[in-house]
Amino acid sequence: MILLGADHGGVALKAAIKRYLEENEIPYRDFGTNDTDSVDYAPIAAQVAHGVAGGQAEKGILCCGTGIGMSIAANKVKGVRASVCSEAYSTEMTRRHNNANILCLGGRVIDEAKAVELTKIFLETEFEGGRHQRRLDEITAIECGEL
Ligand code: RB5
Repeated sequence: MILLGADHGGVALKAAIKRYLEENEIPYRDFGTNDTDSVDYAPIAAQVAHGVAGGQAEKGILCCGTGIGMSIAANKVKGVRASVCSEAYSTEMTRRHNNANILCLGGRVIDEAKAVELTKIFLETEFEGGRHQRRLDEITAIECGEL
């Protein structure tokens, strides 16, 4: 299960990602928005972030104009590791090293084909664990006020 969300700046990317998920029979839940009327990104990021952090889904994808607002908002939720990516290498590495659980994309930065390419990488790349788990534990310690 993949949780999806977008504001008006990311709605076209989300539509392309939904088509990809449907073609590949990957289940998703869409928290909107679904048109180009202006809408605030933070409440949408919150729904996806709480869903991922709460175990409703393993991963989420959030799209806005740059991906940045969505990532800042999503990363306020404990347990979320949201990464803004616009190219393949960072997308692969944020799965392999950071175990990112939310991918944030910018509709004014990348086109729909790139969004689908990065979605595929994000969904298919495994976390490496090992020394990277220790680093994620340190991030959790920051969340808990221990660092
Ligand atoms: C909306 O205009 C825009 O600010 C938003 O989509 C996003 O890019 C914010 O980070």
